[in-house]
Amino acid sequence: MTVHSFEEHFEQKLDKDIAIEPRDWMPDTYRKTLIRQISQHAHSEIVGMLPEGNWITRAPSLRRKAVLLAKVQDEAGHGLYLYSAAETLGISRDELYDQLHTGKAKYSSIFNYPTLTWADMGAIGWLVDGAAIMNQVPLCRTSYGPYARAMVRVCKEESFHQRQGFEIMLTLSKGTEVQKKMAQDALNRWWWPSIMMFGPPDDNSPNTEMSMRWKIKRFTNDELRQKFIDVTVEQAKILGLTIPDADLKWNEERGHYDYGAINWEEFWNVVKGNGPCNKERLEARKKAWENGAWVRDAANAYAEKRKKRLQQQAA
Ligand code: 3HC
Repeated sequence: MTVHSFEEHFEQKLDKDIAIEPRDWMPDTYRKTLIRQISQHAHSEIVGMLPEGNWITRAPSLRRKAVLLAKVQDEAGHGLYLYSAAETLGISRDELYDQLHTGKAKYSSIFNYPTLTWADMGAIGWLVDGAAIMNQVPLCRTSYGPYARAMVRVCKEESFHQRQGFEIMLTLSKGTEVQKKMAQDALNRWWWPSIMMFGPPDDNSPNTEMSMRWKIKRFTNDELRQKFIDVTVEQAKILGLTIPDADLKWNEERGHYDYGAINWEEFWNVVKGNGPCNKERLEARKKAWENGAWVRDAANAYAEKRKKRLQQQAA
């Protein structure tokens, strides 16, 4: 491969779908947008534990409690894989957390909605993790190696998350009238925020064009949103629940579902920090960080002591 410049080598690797690795030369703008996306993805996983954590002690059975506990623990692990992937780009864990705690970094708007009933655990697993899978499977082929590898592991666990959520919705929708009503109420509240998870429309997405060119994204926001809607509408039929969109209609010509207008004003309002739970979520994260300081200090003290002991032994 004759290479005249680092840029050319970078471009050739992209063209050949060869993963870009941490030690490879990469444009600063590529590095910056990866830190932006991967860190916000990690923040989303960690903040995403809060809405579901709210129901662990109130699960209706020991089995449901164990399954929800396992799911929330998985999300913590997803966050750690992704923080580690972001660190390979030269940002420290402390900087990442600082960006979250000071509001500089975003996390997925979906986690700023309240979880009002047990059916919300079903709707989150079914819709939010369903949307996450739609978005994360293509990310297993993202051009940055550590991100792609983290996604392979994450996606294996996401399918369990989505299935347990769908099972909760199926149990409720086939249960008593009150249970079916609870499931429909949860679908009504989580449907639109879930399709907003894919980001703003392509014609209002400042990052998509470059992310597609750099093969960070393999599909655009609207393409993934459409795939998610097409699949999920069919699942709602199995549940016997109604998608809260009067304009939802199969379009034979397009081979997709047409859907109603998304309330982008609500989306940007939540992204800007004015959602129902933004303040509560950030407070919870800052409190967890402060309460965990002693654990970090103890681990660092142990590591320091061990390093000194090994140095003495080596001397
Ligand atoms: N919530 C909050 N902010 C959002 C958003 C959302 N749902 N969608 C877009 N934004 C922000 C973007 O971060 C960007 O702001 P920034 O430039 O300050 O970062 C701005 O809105 C414009 O959006 P773009 O479409 O231009 O941004 P991207 O190209 O980054 O696309 C994305 C947005 C599709 C979310 C992309 O970042 C992505 O695919 N991220 C990885 C997946 C991810 O983060 N998923 C979040 C959920 S994780 C989850 O659900 C875990 C599961 O286990 C429950």
